[in-house]
Amino acid sequence: MARMVIAGNWKMNGLTETLAEAEGVMAGLEAAHDNADCVICPPATLVLAMANRARGSRLKVGGQTCHPAESGAHTGDISAEMLADAGASHVILGHSERRADHGESDESVAARVEAALRAGLVPIICVGETLYERDGGHTLDIIAGQLAGSLPDSLNGQDFILAYEPVWAIGTGRTPTLEQIGEVHLAIRERLSQRFGETGQSAPILYGGSMKPGNAGEILGVSEVNGGLIGGASLKAADFLAIYEAAG
Ligand code: 13P
Repeated sequence: MARMVIAGNWKMNGLTETLAEAEGVMAGLEAAHDNADCVICPPATLVLAMANRARGSRLKVGGQTCHPAESGAHTGDISAEMLADAGASHVILGHSERRADHGESDESVAARVEAALRAGLVPIICVGETLYERDGGHTLDIIAGQLAGSLPDSLNGQDFILAYEPVWAIGTGRTPTLEQIGEVHLAIRERLSQRFGETGQSAPILYGGSMKPGNAGEILGVSEVNGGLIGGASLKAADFLAIYEAAG
């Protein structure tokens, strides 16, 4: 059985003062159940400060992407080694916003996953179909293609996390039906198990897209859903903790 993971993706939100929300999460975790790992991925400017404050707490900190290279002439980019040096333990890779806004292809995501493993970070690798692809009946093919292209063989034997995020459910308030979520998660589990054996059986598969305190319980109860990747509702400690509680 994969361990539950509740991860927050702050995206391009958060100033120094917003660290108070992360501190609220740390405090809440003290009194909460211990059935899930809890991660927040703030913007790069806050990784170091959040990791410093999270030391000794149950909260883990992650980046939102990384460059494949360790260092070099790549203005504006940060490497996996830099995230690890700042205190991150995780990194989101291949988020649909990175794929759309920055042209991250499956091949480039796979290279970033290699970089994360090289630096000792746990990659949170995102896949998901657009509404056009779902309406065309291509969801499972699209997911299979993204898995084949974005997951390097070197994941075998490593800790990694998969996140299924239907593009049309992100930030829209719309979510797939529980049956639709279950169908995709089962297909992902089968692919991971075929390709990576035991590693693929124990990798958590998170659902992401308009997850909120009000729907977290039922989504987290779906077979092969091992947690959530939460955007908007991760920005407020109370909402994020309520989702965490639903994973108990
Ligand atoms: P929302 O929870 O805001 O829909 O975002 C989901 C997401 O993209 C997390 O990575």
